[in-house]
Amino acid sequence: MADRDEQTSDLAGQPLPVVVLVSGTGTNLQALIETVHGHETQIVGVASSVAGVRALERAAAAGIPTAVFERDAFADRSTRDAALGQWALERGARLVVLAGYMELLGTQFLDSFPGAVINVHPSLLPSFPGLRAIEQALAYGVKVFGVTVHFVDAGVDSGPVILQRAVQLPQASDPDEVLTALRPLEHSLLPEAVRLFAQGALSFDRDNPRRVLVSSPVARTAGRAGG
Ligand code: GRF
Repeated sequence: MADRDEQTSDLAGQPLPVVVLVSGTGTNLQALIETVHGHETQIVGVASSVAGVRALERAAAAGIPTAVFERDAFADRSTRDAALGQWALERGARLVVLAGYMELLGTQFLDSFPGAVINVHPSLLPSFPGLRAIEQALAYGVKVFGVTVHFVDAGVDSGPVILQRAVQLPQASDPDEVLTALRPLEHSLLPEAVRLFAQGALSFDRDNPRRVLVSSPVARTAGRAGG
């Protein structure tokens, strides 16, 4: 895992170049555009695994370059991942954010951005990884739902947790009702995690690399001042 300071130090106060990967509606992308874009970060590209989705329109409306990497256009997943990784590197990305990206990324892609791929997931991981997380949680009968932002590893929603937030919904039975409750959590938690990354505020506990440490605002200020 690359050191966070190494990834941000040469940018010295410049916005961190970020690529966002999407597959659908793009409400989390919109939250990033309205919060960290043009401030702590610059979204230098948005790539979708699906053509014609709303997320691409949101990016275009914000003047952000877009690209589509559909599964059928490539011989296999690793060929698609290689093209996607090359595109992201050419854009100058230092962080890749999965915002509703409905595809797995192989180790080849992840190795191009060590410790610099993050994802937002609509459950309190490690509960309910993978597809239809809210439906899984409802089927289990939980009373507390939530959102996780985590680093991405080669598994399914299994990387180290950066931030989590919960909401109590003891009467919930409808996925749309839960999604409506989780949306505001996602839209604040993902930009916050991206901001912390861009500020160099995230590191790993030496004794337990699963544990992501978030440095205090004072330490972050000192870190930036010191380059
Ligand atoms: C979100 O619920 C996110 O947690 C999940 O996919 C959904 C994407 O929504 N990974 P949107 O495209 O950002 O609106």
